[in-house]
Amino acid sequence: MPEGDDMKVAVLASGSGSNLQALLDACRPPEPAQIALVASNVPGAGALERARRAEVPTWVIADPTDGAAIVAKLREARIDLIVLAGYLKLVPAEVVSAFDGRMVNIHPALLPSFGGKGMYGMRVHQAVLASGATVSGPTVHLVNAEYDRGPILAQWPVPVLPGDTPEQLRDRVLAVEHQLLPAVVLAAAHAGRPVRLTPGGVSFSPSPKPTIPSMTAEPS
Ligand code: GRF
Repeated sequence: MPEGDDMKVAVLASGSGSNLQALLDACRPPEPAQIALVASNVPGAGALERARRAEVPTWVIADPTDGAAIVAKLREARIDLIVLAGYLKLVPAEVVSAFDGRMVNIHPALLPSFGGKGMYGMRVHQAVLASGATVSGPTVHLVNAEYDRGPILAQWPVPVLPGDTPEQLRDRVLAVEHQLLPAVVLAAAHAGRPVRLTPGGVSFSPSPKPTIPSMTAEPS
């Protein structure tokens, strides 16, 4: 990414795209980040509709296994950072290596627990509730070859409340995702690369009201 340029971000999403919306709302001037492409493997995905409304270029991924085509499209759009925001297909190894250290994913539980193959959507929240855990919360991590195992960039604890249904827990975690993911992307744009965020002060306690702005990028 040339110095002084905005970080160009591609968002890959398969679903409604509420996290994409949070990014579209946050990545505006004067922030040095721009959502430059939204891609989906699902032609009718809500995420594509949100992108169109924001006048952001969209792309339907015809073959999610065709890594060369995906890399070519991302290079053509001069993408600096890929964000997986509810993207339900395996990202081909070719793309992972072309964007090594420049691709992040958001997961709706505190990794390394409740992650891995088959752990997506409501299954995650059901597993958290079945385990008896009293804390959950989103994780943003770098993507590497292993599902949900790349280095963690940011997490925020969210309480599991007595009598929670999976839907209630999902909604409480999702509200925090909408703050945590933009915080990570904006910090990456300011630093020129993804950085780890750590909670500042003593405010790091399970809370339905996160104070994400108190998170700071770790000095490197
Ligand atoms: C989020 O819970 C995210 O953590 C997971 O997929 C969901 C996407 O939701 N990876 P949305 O499409 O952003 O609303």
